[in-house]
Amino acid sequence: MYRYASVVCCLCFAIAFQLSHGTSVTVKDKDNNTCLYADLMINFTVSYEVSVNELNFGEGFSWSVNFTINGTLYKADTITFTYNLNDTTVFPNSVVNDTATVTAKPQIPAIDIDTCYSCNSKETLEADVVNQTLWNVLIQAFVSNNNISTNLSSCAADLPASTTVAPITNATTSTPVTNSSTAPPPTPTPTLPTPTGGKYSIKPDENSTACLIANFGLRINVKKIEMNFEPNGTTVSGSCGVNSSQLVLTSSSMTITLTFANDTKKFHLHALNITGKTSSGVEFSEVNTNLTLWEAAVGSSYMCNKEQNYTITSQLTLYTFDLQVQPFGVKKGVFSTAEDCQPDDVDSFIVPVAVGVSLLVLILIVLLAYFIGRRRNMGSTYESL
Ligand SMILES: *[C@@H]1O[C@H](CO)[C@@H](O)[C@H](O)[C@H]1NC(C)=O
Ligand SMILES: *[C@@H]1O[C@H](CO)[C@@H](O)[C@H](O)[C@H]1NC(C)=O
Ligand SMILES: *[C@@H]1O[C@H](CO)[C@@H](O)[C@H](O)[C@H]1NC(C)=O
Ligand SMILES: *[C@@H]1O[C@H](CO)[C@@H](O)[C@H](O)[C@H]1NC(C)=O
Ligand SMILES: *[C@@H]1O[C@H](CO)[C@@H](O)[C@H](O)[C@H]1NC(C)=O
Ligand SMILES: *[C@@H]1O[C@H](CO)[C@@H](O)[C@H](O)[C@H]1NC(C)=O
Ligand SMILES: *[C@@H]1O[C@H](CO)[C@@H](O)[C@H](O)[C@H]1NC(C)=O
Ligand SMILES: *[C@@H]1O[C@H](CO)[C@@H](O)[C@H](O)[C@H]1NC(C)=O
Ligand SMILES: *[C@@H]1O[C@H](CO)[C@@H](O)[C@H](O)[C@H]1NC(C)=O
Ligand SMILES: *[C@@H]1O[C@H](CO)[C@@H](O)[C@H](O)[C@H]1NC(C)=O
Ligand SMILES: *[C@@H]1O[C@H](CO)[C@@H](O)[C@H](O)[C@H]1NC(C)=O
Ligand SMILES: *[C@@H]1O[C@H](CO)[C@@H](O)[C@H](O)[C@H]1NC(C)=O
Repeated sequence: MYRYASVVCCLCFAIAFQLSHGTSVTVKDKDNNTCLYADLMINFTVSYEVSVNELNFGEGFSWSVNFTINGTLYKADTITFTYNLNDTTVFPNSVVNDTATVTAKPQIPAIDIDTCYSCNSKETLEADVVNQTLWNVLIQAFVSNNNISTNLSSCAADLPASTTVAPITNATTSTPVTNSSTAPPPTPTPTLPTPTGGKYSIKPDENSTACLIANFGLRINVKKIEMNFEPNGTTVSGSCGVNSSQLVLTSSSMTITLTFANDTKKFHLHALNITGKTSSGVEFSEVNTNLTLWEAAVGSSYMCNKEQNYTITSQLTLYTFDLQVQPFGVKKGVFSTAEDCQPDDVDSFIVPVAVGVSLLVLILIVLLAYFIGRRRNMGSTYESL
């Protein structure tokens, strides 16, 4: 009853690596039919004997994934990462001269055949002494008819914060009655924790995919008081236009209006309006309508993972964490190629990559197919190999 088809394709090839725009890999079989497509970003942290924590990748490594198929579902089975400790440019002073290999099981659920798996969020895989972080992942294995599918299956972490399930609160709940006569003077707050990242999106109507998406953690310093923006319970509204799009976030403590402008080729954050009240009752309302922040090409997204601070007005400083926004030209409700802000990861190995130091990387992709079940016609292309 069970049938078994053997290795489908096993190709080695070298590609120039420019991680700032991701790695795009198309694997073809011997008949030049596309059988795998992958576009992803990845960073590695390897610990080895001699206490150096982060890599300075200067040379090749090999990274492979094998996929299995069962019925109409495919799945990434195992990620195998091989690195050469003998390579002194990468692992100076290593006491071992060997090649090391680690394997990890990715947390990618089974995906329908003819569907691309998409995950812009970061996923860290811990395997022994290696941590691998993947993001901006787009993968389709077992491609049929050379067509990369336009159906997307997004990972759970990418789905926008569920604004619809937010309880319907009425305005009266946001003004707690406090004994304001004895309000204590604002005390200098100790360093706040990193603000929680929020995922926000605007849809033109209920049946469409998002036209504006933004992920970030936010902190403000207003009138010398620091506050983290709390995404939980935040109401999201706004609009998408041709030349101007707006995102309005209302939490229990403040309302933030972000206005983005499209000047034909590029977009930027044009205006920012924050009004609210600190926990000690100090009201604030700060507006700047002449900003040129978060600039990127229309059709791409702007990304800045490192903490950034922006002086908005003399009274207001904005801090962002793990920022990614796309206010125009969103396709299929997910971020397009990211334009990374320059100061990101200045001292990490990603930078040499992001800045364009081309690395020659050997990627070995092994695609194994198991046809289990009764579907005779499924993937007949591969059976003929
Ligand atoms: C596949 O394509 C390459 C380049 O496009 C070509 O050189 C090669 O002959 C093709 N192979 C087959 C089997 O068509
Ligand atoms: C991998 O991540 C874990 C948990 O964050 C951490 O304890 C460990 O030190 C990391 N390993 C490396 C090699 O960075
Ligand atoms: C394939 O799927 C069937 C039904 O979903 C399941 O019973 C079977 O164990 C699966 N086979 C493998 C190898 O995962
Ligand atoms: C995928 O690769 C890993 C490690 O190379 C191996 O243990 C595993 O059996 C492979 N999976 C399949 C389905 O062959
Ligand atoms: C390490 O590299 C040197 C020269 O590059 C080579 O002679 C030696 O055989 C290598 N050792 C191992 C264990 O691969
Ligand atoms: C590792 O290889 C280098 C170069 O081949 C050699 O000088 C060194 O002694 C080797 N170290 C060990 C532990 O084998
Ligand atoms: C607020 O909600 C409560 C209970 O849900 C309701 O009794 C009250 O009338 C509401 N107030 C306003 C101003 O809508
Ligand atoms: C959304 O789709 C549902 C079912 O497909 C339909 O009943 C509804 O009218 C649509 N709404 C809009 C605004 O198009
Ligand atoms: C959001 O807030 C509610 C009520 O304060 C709490 O029950 C819930 O766990 C919070 N959710 C998250 C993800 O923090
Ligand atoms: C950006 O503006 C230009 C010129 O007004 C317009 O042609 C283009 O469609 C706009 N782009 C988007 C994504 O709205
Ligand atoms: C800023 O927002 C507040 C409240 O949302 C509004 O009253 C005010 O008019 C806005 N200012 C500008 C310049 O948009
Ligand atoms: C790799 O990604 C993880 C998760 O975002 C991050 O903590 C780490 O700093 C990154 N490492 C490098 C070298 O960029």
